[in-house]
Amino acid sequence: MTAYPDSASRSAQLHQRARRVMPSGNSRQTIFFKPYPVYARSGEGCRVVDEDGVERIDFLNNYTALIHGHRHPEVMAAARAQLDRLTAVALPTEAEIALAELLVDRLEGVEQVRFANSGTEAVMMAIKAARAYTGRPRIAKIEGAYHGGYDHAEVSQAATPAAWGPADRPASVANYKGQPKGVLDDVVVLPWNDVEASRALLEAHGADLAAVLIDPIPSRLGLVPISEAYLAMLRETARKLGALFILDEVYCLRLGYRGAQGRLGFAPDLTAMAKIIGGGFPVGAVGGKAEVMAVFGFDDGPPRVPHGGTYNANPVTMAAGLAAMRLLTPEAFARLGALGDRLRSGLRECLKITGRDGQVQGAESLTMLSLSDRPFGTYRDTAYAVRFGEPQAAVHRSLMNRGVLTSPSLLFNLSTPMVEADVDFTLEQVLAALKAL
Ligand SMILES: Cc1ncc(COP(=O)(O)O)c(C=O)c1O
Repeated sequence: MTAYPDSASRSAQLHQRARRVMPSGNSRQTIFFKPYPVYARSGEGCRVVDEDGVERIDFLNNYTALIHGHRHPEVMAAARAQLDRLTAVALPTEAEIALAELLVDRLEGVEQVRFANSGTEAVMMAIKAARAYTGRPRIAKIEGAYHGGYDHAEVSQAATPAAWGPADRPASVANYKGQPKGVLDDVVVLPWNDVEASRALLEAHGADLAAVLIDPIPSRLGLVPISEAYLAMLRETARKLGALFILDEVYCLRLGYRGAQGRLGFAPDLTAMAKIIGGGFPVGAVGGKAEVMAVFGFDDGPPRVPHGGTYNANPVTMAAGLAAMRLLTPEAFARLGALGDRLRSGLRECLKITGRDGQVQGAESLTMLSLSDRPFGTYRDTAYAVRFGEPQAAVHRSLMNRGVLTSPSLLFNLSTPMVEADVDFTLEQVLAALKAL
């Protein structure tokens, strides 16, 4: 097996070639890792093979999108059948109705849907819908939470101590140089799970607030879940202030048959979706209560929120997405959940055996191992623990050489082709990597 890193490897050479034509050799910052990412050649089930012929179990699953792993036969058959009929067209197709019906059927907060091409767009459309519905400009989001690349959604996504201000009143920090001040002013940044501080911030901006945007198990916060008290406060305060509740389920729709909202037991006003609903093809969708989604309608005049897009609801994505979602039965989720429990308890055991400090967070098919030497609960803790953790990066590199592909933050996403033996093999590799630290 080619060792990683190896400057003579084909991946290293491809990266050098990429650097001539793309800044840092990259089109997607979120998948880069140092000194160079391995380049993928093929994938099958839960395994991916790189350009040097090295096979690894894929725990990234295109950052959770590939819940059935690579090239699931039924998803491929649906996509192929569609490819043979029609790939893209400036007319609606039946396929988009069928996928929308499935989402409406499963998700309590989704009475109507509109499709787009990414989670970024889904969040953007949800924010615009909330603004149009309330006539207000501002949104509230969690410090450090990732919601994609829409200007308002990315505020304070990667805030650092020099700029982030007091913990109970986080500053609105630009995510890129030159980000308009008007954007920063229209975003209220909340500290995760801090009930009293967040309530005070929301109330202070109440009259201008269109929506509260929440991912209930944010990956950039180490998968520390929302507390019951925090969710209750957010829902109550949003309702009191006349602001909408946007649940970002781009990542966490994979938590169950009825999504994260099913687990949390409430119907958000708007839901942003993407990833698993596209069967491995580019997708995004916003769904919500019919009364709110009416902002996109134009039966009686121009829509309150105009929404076009050359590839919205493209038939290949719709066909693959429908096949992928139909495979996700309650039994399939139960199996993923049991595998996730096995992985999490095994990882905790690895920490115990090696005497390493760390936390294992997550639920169902989402797990993160954070080798932090102090407990954490907010972005400020994880910014210290995950992003700057050298042991974390060392374990990631070591796993690359032990047939396991995860993220540098040690995120382990499960896919349905995985079996207990894959989890057990992975745990053996994690134990070896921890011992080698
Ligand atoms: C919670 C959340 N929201 C939004 C996005 C953006 O989705 P996309 O990458 O499809 O634009 C992501 C991407 O990982 C995400 O995790």
